[in-house]
Amino acid sequence: MAIGVFDSGVGGLSVHHRLVERFPQADFVYLADQANTPYGGRPGEEIVDLTRAGCERLFAEGCDVVVLACNTASGIALRRLQQTWLPGCRKTLGRPVNVLGIIVPTIEAATGLPWEHEAERRGDKVEKLDVLAVFSTPATAASRVYEIEIDKRRQDVAVFSQACPDLAGMIEAGAPRADLAAAVQGHVAAITRRIGRAPDRAILGCTHYEIVADLFGAALPAGTPVIHQPQATADALAGYFERHPEFAIGSGGGRRFLTTGRPGAQSSLVEAFWGGPLSFERA
Ligand code: DGL
Repeated sequence: MAIGVFDSGVGGLSVHHRLVERFPQADFVYLADQANTPYGGRPGEEIVDLTRAGCERLFAEGCDVVVLACNTASGIALRRLQQTWLPGCRKTLGRPVNVLGIIVPTIEAATGLPWEHEAERRGDKVEKLDVLAVFSTPATAASRVYEIEIDKRRQDVAVFSQACPDLAGMIEAGAPRADLAAAVQGHVAAITRRIGRAPDRAILGCTHYEIVADLFGAALPAGTPVIHQPQATADALAGYFERHPEFAIGSGGGRRFLTTGRPGAQSSLVEAFWGGPLSFERA
């Protein structure tokens, strides 16, 4: 079998990169839905339909496990597809298949860390508050998935989401670094104003943002820990394969990159992140 990696565009390459390092022998098929990117400003029903179409395509390419390397698809579409579509899809295909998201692994990484900040002293009561900033697309921020899921696990973590409306589109288009830096600084300044101080930690809750993780590092106060989704996802997937031996990881080491958009090379921003030329086939 192959492992499918899906995103609206190039952001999921950040996750793909880590998965390939972790499972070098496995066959991978990456699918970028660049004909429809960005997803972050779309209505939920559209995000569900586009995500389902991407998964169908990857199953047709021989993938048995599809990783939604996209917070917007994971937050808006994953549960719906798992509950209402996957059971029938397995019957039709006649083989075990699954779709996994990247938000739960990220939240596990975020809430499992023993990182607490003594923020305030009121009388003799010490309040510990760990203020976590989540930078994401508008759709992910509106879903409040990070707030809801983190609150279920840890009441001492205060989550502030910052929707960054244009950022994924700018990264997808390979915008100049100075423009990207100004946009990132603006979003960090906005969330700092809303919190009333700088966050203690941050999640880059859109896989595109990993491509400019250094700009977030530069805009946040020096040393602010950033939870990296690609690493969290690779760790979680390794655990998943241990628990699910029915998904035998292949040994061909194949790598295919498909796009619903324009085939061929990607922007210089993406190639610099990737570390070399990267050519996509038409999906
Ligand atoms: N990279 C995606 C995410 O993690 C989607 C960005 C977009 O298409 O707006 O949310």
